[in-house]
Amino acid sequence: MRTPLLAGNWKMFKTPEEAKAFFQEFLPLVEKIEGKEILLCVPFIDLQVSIEAVKNSNIQVGAQNGHWEKEGAYTGEISMEMLKQIQCPWVIIGHSERREYFGETNQTTAFKVRAALENGLKPILCVGESLEERESGKTNEKVIGQITEGLAGLSEEEMKKVTVAYEPIWAIGTGKTATSEDAQNVCSVLRSTIQKLFGEVSQEVRILYGGSVKPDNAPELLAQPDIDGALVGGASLKAGDFAQIVKS
Ligand code: PGA
Repeated sequence: MRTPLLAGNWKMFKTPEEAKAFFQEFLPLVEKIEGKEILLCVPFIDLQVSIEAVKNSNIQVGAQNGHWEKEGAYTGEISMEMLKQIQCPWVIIGHSERREYFGETNQTTAFKVRAALENGLKPILCVGESLEERESGKTNEKVIGQITEGLAGLSEEEMKKVTVAYEPIWAIGTGKTATSEDAQNVCSVLRSTIQKLFGEVSQEVRILYGGSVKPDNAPELLAQPDIDGALVGGASLKAGDFAQIVKS
């Protein structure tokens, strides 16, 4: 019932030229894939060449952040409205690196989710616990707080357009993956929280797992009942690796 979503997050990697070269290599590798959505979230500066490169293909492009105000004196920011103008359909919100290095909070993620939806963009809200929180048994409390606050005030109809990504911070870029059982447990907690907050629409909301997803561990993670796809950092930079994950 939920179409799997395989999303790449390039972070601060690849110039426009490198982005173009990636898509040239990647498109033919996945062109026959049906029944899955494929997305690459690229640096702002790569958006236009990437959107151009995936035209008429089964691949979509997204941004990694966006400001909630339409415009204004916010040096260095790009608004959701601007993303809409260049026909960027997706945006990642509240990635743990944004929370850790750029001071994003549950409150700012809530502003961003709302602004994304108001501009017709599809937000991917990221949540996840630190190693310390996991070891002290606070994982569920942390992620429940993050989605409850980050999704506050949405209607059921709006919630349908949101994707949630569970990314344990200790698994990002470290080569340590959550076991498929641990990842499934947290994703199931997230789904039941969405159910409590929004009702039956929780069955339609996609929940992704992210954190050191690689071609060899993707099949087991993606086989879990509450994991509807992956958010892939490092392994999405290589066309061959990401194509293999998409085919999992
Ligand atoms: P990783 O990153 O796959 O390199 O661990 C995932 C992410 O941060 O989205």
